[in-house]
Amino acid sequence: MLIIGHRGARALGPENTLSALRRGMACADLVEVDLRLTRDGILVAIHDATVDRTTNGTGPVKGYTIEDLTRLDAGEGEKIPTLGEVLDLVRNVTGLVVEIKEPGTEAIVVSALMEMMPKRLFLVSFYSESVATVKRLLPGTPAGLIYSEEIVDPVGLARSVQADLLLPRWDRVSHELVDEAHTAGLLVVPWLLTTEDDILEALRLGVDGFSSDDPCNARRYLDAS
Ligand code: G3P
Ligand code: CA
Repeated sequence: MLIIGHRGARALGPENTLSALRRGMACADLVEVDLRLTRDGILVAIHDATVDRTTNGTGPVKGYTIEDLTRLDAGEGEKIPTLGEVLDLVRNVTGLVVEIKEPGTEAIVVSALMEMMPKRLFLVSFYSESVATVKRLLPGTPAGLIYSEEIVDPVGLARSVQADLLLPRWDRVSHELVDEAHTAGLLVVPWLLTTEDDILEALRLGVDGFSSDDPCNARRYLDAS
Protein backbone atom coordinates (compact mmCIF):
# COMPACT_ATOMS: atom_id res chain seq x y z
CA MET A 1 0.00 0.00 0.00
CA LEU A 2 1.62 3.22 -1.16
CA ILE A 3 1.16 6.33 0.97
CA ILE A 4 1.31 9.64 -0.91
CA GLY A 5 1.74 12.93 0.94
CA HIS A 6 -0.83 15.28 -0.60
CA ARG A 7 0.66 18.68 -1.62
CA GLY A 8 3.74 17.53 0.32
CA ALA A 9 1.83 16.90 3.53
CA ARG A 10 -0.71 19.69 3.72
CA ALA A 11 -1.68 18.95 7.33
CA LEU A 12 1.96 19.17 8.47
CA GLY A 13 3.23 22.32 6.72
CA PRO A 14 2.21 24.99 4.19
CA GLU A 15 1.03 23.10 1.10
CA ASN A 16 3.42 22.52 -1.80
CA THR A 17 6.39 24.02 0.12
CA LEU A 18 9.74 22.37 0.85
CA SER A 19 8.79 22.32 4.52
CA ALA A 20 5.60 20.31 3.87
CA LEU A 21 7.54 18.04 1.52
CA ARG A 22 10.25 17.39 4.13
CA ARG A 23 7.64 16.52 6.75
CA GLY A 24 5.78 14.29 4.32
CA MET A 25 8.97 12.54 3.27
CA ALA A 26 9.42 11.33 6.84
CA CYS A 27 6.42 9.01 6.42
CA ALA A 28 5.25 8.84 2.80
CA ASP A 29 6.42 6.57 -0.03
CA LEU A 30 5.85 9.43 -2.45
CA VAL A 31 5.06 13.12 -2.03
CA GLU A 32 2.83 15.04 -4.41
CA VAL A 33 3.20 18.52 -5.89
CA ASP A 34 1.00 20.53 -8.26
CA LEU A 35 2.86 22.28 -11.08
CA ARG A 36 2.25 25.58 -12.85
CA LEU A 37 4.35 27.89 -15.04
CA THR A 38 5.52 31.41 -14.22
CA ARG A 39 5.48 34.23 -16.78
CA ASP A 40 9.11 33.49 -17.61
CA GLY A 41 8.51 29.77 -18.08
CA ILE A 42 9.70 28.31 -14.76
CA LEU A 43 7.80 25.36 -13.28
CA VAL A 44 6.74 25.98 -9.68
CA ALA A 45 4.82 23.97 -7.08
CA ILE A 46 1.49 25.69 -6.43
CA HIS A 47 -2.05 24.36 -6.53
CA ASP A 48 -4.18 27.34 -7.56
CA ALA A 49 -3.95 29.42 -10.72
CA THR A 50 -3.51 32.48 -8.49
CA VAL A 51 -1.24 33.08 -5.51
CA ASP A 52 -4.05 34.62 -3.40
CA ARG A 53 -5.06 31.67 -1.19
CA THR A 54 -1.62 30.29 -0.33
CA THR A 55 0.65 33.35 -0.23
CA ASN A 56 0.71 37.00 0.86
CA GLY A 57 0.50 38.08 -2.79
CA THR A 58 -2.32 38.49 -5.28
CA GLY A 59 -2.88 37.68 -8.94
CA PRO A 60 -2.24 34.84 -11.36
CA VAL A 61 0.92 32.72 -11.11
CA LYS A 62 1.49 33.27 -14.83
CA GLY A 63 1.62 37.02 -14.22
CA TYR A 64 4.76 36.65 -12.04
CA THR A 65 8.40 36.23 -13.00
CA ILE A 66 10.20 33.61 -10.91
CA GLU A 67 12.14 36.40 -9.19
CA ASP A 68 8.96 38.15 -8.03
CA LEU A 69 7.16 34.90 -7.19
CA THR A 70 9.90 33.70 -4.88
CA ARG A 71 9.63 36.94 -2.85
CA LEU A 72 6.17 35.86 -1.69
CA ASP A 73 5.58 34.16 1.65
CA ALA A 74 3.84 30.81 1.11
CA GLY A 75 3.34 30.33 4.88
CA GLU A 76 5.68 30.00 7.87
CA GLY A 77 8.29 31.99 5.93
CA GLU A 78 8.40 29.36 3.18
CA LYS A 79 8.72 30.24 -0.51
CA ILE A 80 6.96 28.74 -3.52
CA PRO A 81 9.54 26.18 -4.67
CA THR A 82 10.60 25.55 -8.26
CA LEU A 83 10.38 22.02 -9.63
CA GLY A 84 14.19 21.99 -9.58
CA GLU A 85 14.22 22.68 -5.84
CA VAL A 86 11.61 19.97 -5.27
CA LEU A 87 13.71 17.48 -7.25
CA ASP A 88 16.87 18.44 -5.34
CA LEU A 89 15.03 17.65 -2.12
CA VAL A 90 13.29 14.40 -2.99
CA ARG A 91 15.75 12.82 -5.40
CA ASN A 92 17.22 9.54 -4.12
CA VAL A 93 15.07 9.79 -0.98
CA THR A 94 11.35 9.64 -1.73
CA GLY A 95 9.18 9.12 -4.78
CA LEU A 96 7.43 12.08 -6.40
CA VAL A 97 3.92 12.48 -7.78
CA VAL A 98 3.79 15.38 -10.23
CA GLU A 99 0.35 16.73 -11.01
CA ILE A 100 0.12 18.66 -14.26
CA LYS A 101 -2.33 21.48 -13.56
CA GLU A 102 -1.91 23.25 -16.90
CA PRO A 103 -2.52 21.36 -20.15
CA GLY A 104 0.15 22.36 -22.66
CA THR A 105 2.98 22.20 -20.11
CA GLU A 106 3.60 18.45 -20.51
CA ALA A 107 6.75 18.73 -22.67
CA ILE A 108 8.46 21.24 -20.37
CA VAL A 109 7.53 19.13 -17.31
CA VAL A 110 8.92 15.98 -18.92
CA SER A 111 12.13 17.64 -20.06
CA ALA A 112 12.75 19.05 -16.56
CA LEU A 113 12.15 15.62 -15.03
CA MET A 114 14.43 13.88 -17.52
CA GLU A 115 17.31 16.06 -16.33
CA MET A 116 16.79 15.04 -12.71
CA MET A 117 14.72 11.87 -12.36
CA PRO A 118 13.40 11.17 -8.87
CA LYS A 119 13.69 7.74 -7.29
CA ARG A 120 10.13 6.90 -8.31
CA LEU A 121 7.84 9.06 -10.42
CA PHE A 122 4.10 9.18 -11.13
CA LEU A 123 2.81 11.80 -13.57
CA VAL A 124 -0.87 12.55 -12.98
CA SER A 125 -3.56 14.92 -14.18
CA PHE A 126 -7.28 15.63 -14.17
CA TYR A 127 -6.87 16.23 -17.93
CA SER A 128 -7.00 13.00 -19.94
CA GLU A 129 -5.21 14.71 -22.86
CA SER A 130 -2.30 15.56 -20.54
CA VAL A 131 -2.09 11.92 -19.44
CA ALA A 132 -2.05 10.82 -23.10
CA THR A 133 0.68 13.35 -23.91
CA VAL A 134 2.98 12.36 -21.03
CA LYS A 135 2.57 8.69 -21.97
CA ARG A 136 3.67 9.56 -25.52
CA LEU A 137 6.67 11.50 -24.22
CA LEU A 138 7.67 9.13 -21.40
CA PRO A 139 6.03 5.76 -22.14
CA GLY A 140 7.97 3.98 -19.41
CA THR A 141 6.83 6.26 -16.59
CA PRO A 142 3.57 5.48 -14.77
CA ALA A 143 0.89 8.08 -15.46
CA GLY A 144 -2.52 8.46 -13.88
CA LEU A 145 -5.92 9.96 -14.48
CA ILE A 146 -7.39 11.87 -11.52
CA TYR A 147 -11.12 12.46 -11.26
CA SER A 148 -13.72 13.73 -8.83
CA GLU A 149 -16.92 14.17 -10.83
CA GLU A 150 -18.91 11.21 -12.08
CA ILE A 151 -17.44 9.64 -15.22
CA VAL A 152 -19.51 7.03 -17.02
CA ASP A 153 -16.55 4.74 -17.70
CA PRO A 154 -13.43 5.89 -15.78
CA VAL A 155 -11.54 2.65 -16.44
CA GLY A 156 -12.26 2.88 -20.17
CA LEU A 157 -11.18 6.53 -20.26
CA ALA A 158 -7.96 5.76 -18.36
CA ARG A 159 -7.15 2.88 -20.69
CA SER A 160 -7.86 4.99 -23.77
CA VAL A 161 -5.04 7.38 -22.76
CA GLN A 162 -2.64 4.55 -21.78
CA ALA A 163 -2.84 5.42 -18.08
CA ASP A 164 -1.32 3.08 -15.53
CA LEU A 165 -3.10 4.53 -12.50
CA LEU A 166 -6.61 5.61 -11.68
CA LEU A 167 -6.91 8.31 -8.98
CA PRO A 168 -10.59 8.64 -8.01
CA ARG A 169 -11.81 10.89 -5.27
CA TRP A 170 -12.23 8.62 -2.24
CA ASP A 171 -16.05 8.72 -2.27
CA ARG A 172 -16.03 7.32 -5.82
CA VAL A 173 -14.25 4.08 -4.85
CA SER A 174 -16.17 0.80 -4.69
CA HIS A 175 -15.28 -2.88 -4.81
CA GLU A 176 -16.61 -3.00 -8.37
CA LEU A 177 -14.40 -0.11 -9.48
CA VAL A 178 -11.28 -1.61 -7.87
CA ASP A 179 -11.95 -5.03 -9.45
CA GLU A 180 -12.63 -3.55 -12.89
CA ALA A 181 -9.52 -1.36 -12.73
CA HIS A 182 -7.33 -4.23 -11.59
CA THR A 183 -8.67 -6.47 -14.35
CA ALA A 184 -7.71 -3.72 -16.80
CA GLY A 185 -4.21 -3.58 -15.30
CA LEU A 186 -4.65 -0.22 -13.55
CA LEU A 187 -3.49 0.61 -10.03
CA VAL A 188 -6.15 2.37 -7.93
CA VAL A 189 -4.84 5.26 -5.82
CA PRO A 190 -7.68 7.35 -4.34
CA TRP A 191 -7.54 10.73 -2.59
CA LEU A 192 -7.91 11.93 0.18
CA LEU A 193 -7.93 9.50 3.09
CA THR A 194 -7.83 10.91 6.59
CA THR A 195 -9.21 8.72 9.36
CA GLU A 196 -8.32 5.27 10.66
CA ASP A 197 -11.66 4.05 9.28
CA ASP A 198 -10.65 5.34 5.84
CA ILE A 199 -7.41 3.34 5.99
CA LEU A 200 -9.19 0.16 7.13
CA GLU A 201 -11.74 0.57 4.35
CA ALA A 202 -8.96 1.11 1.80
CA LEU A 203 -7.37 -2.17 2.92
CA ARG A 204 -10.73 -3.96 2.67
CA LEU A 205 -11.33 -2.59 -0.83
CA GLY A 206 -7.86 -3.61 -1.98
CA VAL A 207 -6.69 -0.26 -3.32
CA ASP A 208 -2.99 0.02 -4.17
CA GLY A 209 -2.25 3.27 -2.38
CA PHE A 210 -3.80 6.58 -1.41
CA SER A 211 -3.10 10.26 -0.86
CA SER A 212 -3.37 11.85 2.55
CA ASP A 213 -2.79 15.35 3.93
CA ASP A 214 -1.13 13.67 6.93
CA PRO A 215 0.92 10.72 5.70
CA CYS A 216 2.41 10.23 9.19
CA ASN A 217 -0.98 9.56 10.74
CA ALA A 218 -1.83 7.34 7.77
CA ARG A 219 1.40 5.38 8.33
CA ARG A 220 0.54 4.90 12.02
CA TYR A 221 -2.95 3.62 11.17
CA LEU A 222 -1.57 1.31 8.51
CA ASP A 223 1.12 -0.07 10.83
CA ALA A 224 -1.48 -0.70 13.54
CA SER A 225 -3.91 -2.48 11.21
O1 G3P B 1 -3.85 13.33 -6.54
C1 G3P B 1 -5.09 13.85 -6.40
C2 G3P B 1 -5.16 15.21 -5.80
O2 G3P B 1 -3.91 15.82 -5.70
C3 G3P B 1 -6.10 16.04 -6.60
O3 G3P B 1 -6.61 17.08 -5.91
O4 G3P B 1 -7.09 19.44 -5.84
O5 G3P B 1 -5.27 18.53 -4.46
O6 G3P B 1 -4.96 18.75 -6.86
P1 G3P B 1 -5.95 18.52 -5.78
CA1 CA C 1 -2.80 17.72 -6.54
